Amino acid sequence: MIADLLPAEIAAEEIFGADPTAELLPAEHDLVAKAVEKRRLEVTNVRTAARRALARIGVAPVPLLRGAKGEPLWPAGVVGSMTHTAGYCAAAVADAGKIRSVGIDAEVHDVLPEGVLGAIALPEEQTQLAALGNTGSIYWDRLLFSAKESVYKAWFPLTGRWLGFEDAHITVDPASSGFTVELLVDGSTNTGPALTGFTGRYLVRDGFVLTAITVPLPG
Ligand SMILES: CC(C)(COP(=O)(O)OP(=O)(O)OC[C@H]1O[C@@H](n2cnc3c(N)ncnc32)[C@H](O)[C@@H]1OP(=O)(O)O)[C@@H](O)C(=O)NCCC(=O)NCCS
Repeated sequence: MIADLLPAEIAAEEIFGADPTAELLPAEHDLVAKAVEKRRLEVTNVRTAARRALARIGVAPVPLLRGAKGEPLWPAGVVGSMTHTAGYCAAAVADAGKIRSVGIDAEVHDVLPEGVLGAIALPEEQTQLAALGNTGSIYWDRLLFSAKESVYKAWFPLTGRWLGFEDAHITVDPASSGFTVELLVDGSTNTGPALTGFTGRYLVRDGFVLTAITVPLPG
């Protein structure tokens, strides 16, 4: 499913449910040392998916550890993103010479718990979601949440900075199954031009909502 949201330059792999062949590399065992079984399986599945995706762009298996802010530490010259939720995980990777950044997110397709929308959505976003209503039986609040998670995952590797839910204004475009993101804060990056926004795509299928943001190279 996730590959449907990404350009051909990005290799993506996903796992539904349990994969008995999934495994962590020894250097990754510390990642789950204190984790409950469900979390251990998610971390194992997503890293297995990530190694499969890396293989498709010619990168040999390596441990995939976390940086100080939880970000995945990809091999040099690789950009990527990972996501896991109950029953599904996915990883997307690309040659950094072809894609500037990528962010992906998957959620179980259900209405957000009471009170969450008000905490994650700007007033303008709440107005748009209310106008969309139940079009196509999509839980737009969950989709917005997922889109914001994808924003953060695409943003962080380029800036190294926090981005709050109130710092990006998302406009959903059901006609194209896409969304645009206007950044409301300084978008200067560690390398290359500043960010002003993103474009993303979404998919609702088989009980999941998926979102993905691809940041092309400048020029
Ligand atoms: C980090 C965050 C985005 C993860 O999303 P999630 O829906 O909770 O969980 P997912 O399973 O989809 O993603 C988990 C993966 O995110 C990735 N991730 C974590 N921190 C990250 C960061 N700083 N940058 C990029 N990716 C990160 C990791 O690969 C992680 O996998 P792991 O736990 O196996 O190592 C979320 O927990 C968070 O902190 N959100 C607040 C920031 C935010 O969303 N702002 C909105 C901006 S508009």
